[in-house]
Amino acid sequence: MATEQRPFHLVVFGASGFTGQFVTEEVAREQVDPERSSRLPWAVAGRSREKLQRVLEKAALKLGRPTLSSEVGIIICDIANPASLDEMAKQATVVLNCVGPYRFYGEPVIKACIENGASCIDISGEPQGLSIHDGTWKSAIYGFGDQSNLRKLRNVSNLKPVPLIGPKLKRRWPISYCRELKGYSIPFMGSDVSVVRRTQRYLYENLEESPVQYAAYVTVGGITSVIKLMFAGLFFLFFVRFGIGRQLLIKFPWFFSFGYFSKQGPTQKQIDAASFTLTFFGQGYSQGTGTDKNKPNIKICTQVKGPEAGYVATPIAMVQAAMTLLSDASHLPKAGGVFTPGAAFSKTKLIDRLNKHGIEFSVISSSEV
Ligand SMILES: NC(=O)c1ccc[n+]([C@@H]2O[C@H](COP(=O)([O-])OP(=O)(O)OC[C@H]3O[C@@H](n4cnc5c(N)ncnc54)[C@H](OP(=O)(O)O)[C@@H]3O)[C@@H](O)[C@H]2O)c1
Repeated sequence: MATEQRPFHLVVFGASGFTGQFVTEEVAREQVDPERSSRLPWAVAGRSREKLQRVLEKAALKLGRPTLSSEVGIIICDIANPASLDEMAKQATVVLNCVGPYRFYGEPVIKACIENGASCIDISGEPQGLSIHDGTWKSAIYGFGDQSNLRKLRNVSNLKPVPLIGPKLKRRWPISYCRELKGYSIPFMGSDVSVVRRTQRYLYENLEESPVQYAAYVTVGGITSVIKLMFAGLFFLFFVRFGIGRQLLIKFPWFFSFGYFSKQGPTQKQIDAASFTLTFFGQGYSQGTGTDKNKPNIKICTQVKGPEAGYVATPIAMVQAAMTLLSDASHLPKAGGVFTPGAAFSKTKLIDRLNKHGIEFSVISSSEV
């Protein structure tokens, strides 16, 4: 975390991309938050000055802030030119990286930030949302296409397993009916489980907290939706294995994703109509109950709800995470490095901030088993 004053508190890198436009608008919105006493100096960064100017003009029009362009700095930076990356990182306290896919561009950005004492929040890996821009489609293609290498990489890291608390979590069948949510669910193929596992390791090794076991599923609806999704999934997993398959998927995102991904991305109407709900079902032990021989004796159900996941909620989360880095430094990990969000922010007020910005965290029920 940079402590000295830098020209820009926040820099949106990749602002000219589909996601970058939304993140830029969210930073601009944050600047006029009624609870904010002063505006922070910030900038947009990317390869083309014209494109960045257009991003600011579009944001100014959308937010009704005609002077926006004159309030925001512009930094020219190309990942292919490492010196320009260093120069950008030196000018920033926090870089919000929207250049992806992560597989190609993520590491150099993070490295430049670490070497130049800036913090970096990265959006570039995770495919989310319902109707999605093809930048995220590409991330998914390369991510799934490279799964065997990812597995190898995780295995060489040779980390000691964290202890198992309570009975081992039972995996659901690949297709299972979820009574509570009244729909069929399938395992969620994103990186969430790995990210949560990393967080649990951090909390256990550094803060001596009991690690939880975690699995993620996505509810897809009725049996017809499951069958359609299975065919689409098998088709996708087959194509990503081959170079030519990946090229075809990249060239015709709309056709191969049955209309979910497109080069234009979702329309504003689709974004406004979308929302997300994450429901967590947990079991554990009340204070003072031994975990060795006893069965879990308490249950909890919590929810996180919010607007459209990929281009509304994620930029909100990203910007609020950045604001937390800037204002809540005493509750962040002391050592530098790369952290999962749960590891970096578990002791901060990030959840309160998100609640205030439309991403609601709530406890639905809590009872004895
Ligand atoms: N976590 C989430 O929920 C979430 C949500 C949405 C998106 N994403 C991720 O965000 C990433 C971007 O997606 P997108 O749909 O916004 O893609 P996009 O529209 O294609 O935008 C890509 C951006 O990267 C920039 N870029 C490409 N190569 C560059 C280089 N060598 N140097 C500097 N900038 C470069 C582009 O700049 P130019 O304009 O100059 O080409 C553009 O600004 C993807 O990895 C996607 O998976 C994540």
